[in-house]
Amino acid sequence: MTNIETLSKVITERRSIKPQNFNGKKIEKTTIDQILMLADWAPTHGHTEPWRFVVMANDAVKRFCQDHAEMYKNNTPEENFLKATYEKLYNQGNSTSHIIAVFSKRGEKPNIQVKEEICATACAVQNILLGAECLAISSFWSTGGQILKPAMKTYFNLLEADTMLGILYLGYCDEPKRNGSRITPMEEKVMWYNH
Ligand SMILES: Cc1cc2nc3c(=O)[nH]c(=O)nc-3n(C[C@H](O)[C@H](O)[C@H](O)COP(=O)(O)O)c2cc1C
Repeated sequence: MTNIETLSKVITERRSIKPQNFNGKKIEKTTIDQILMLADWAPTHGHTEPWRFVVMANDAVKRFCQDHAEMYKNNTPEENFLKATYEKLYNQGNSTSHIIAVFSKRGEKPNIQVKEEICATACAVQNILLGAECLAISSFWSTGGQILKPAMKTYFNLLEADTMLGILYLGYCDEPKRNGSRITPMEEKVMWYNH
């Protein structure tokens, strides 16, 4: 296979797989380290290298999910609180090997905009997801629940200027991958200027 064939296969075959479908098998720490190294090669304007990760393994996975459920309870008006949502969050990591919280750290170069740093961090996440795909690791990028709420920033001790990008759930899955789909045809997303 040529490089472009391999890359195309990895990119197009990567699927978001919900942590509920993971099988509980653990990923080796060295494998997580290997994937994180790929994140560090994301493009970065002005070398601010803003991507930051909090990697949770073993008991920390369970604790995070329990804390996430509590965060939901504490920040939801009683009339809106749903026990099912609480339980979903509480149990979300039951079969997950690692959880990686991703945030973008605001740098000290005022000429580099926050959005550039967020873009760089999103590229770092994609590197992680593609690395995981190469290693038959299932991944799920979530921004649901309390993940983008102020409570989560406080939980991870982020500064006001920092930005939470999401939580990555990593694990293994026995089920066959669903087919990918995109709704809007690519032709509608691309404009060509020839003159
Ligand atoms: C920034 C970001 C946040 C996401 N957050 C969620 C989420 O909270 N819940 C969810 O079900 N999927 C989430 N996803 C995954 C998308 O649902 C998924 O990428 C989409 O369905 C396309 O499927 P694919 O990734 O398998 O191609 C998120 C994806 C991105 C890029």
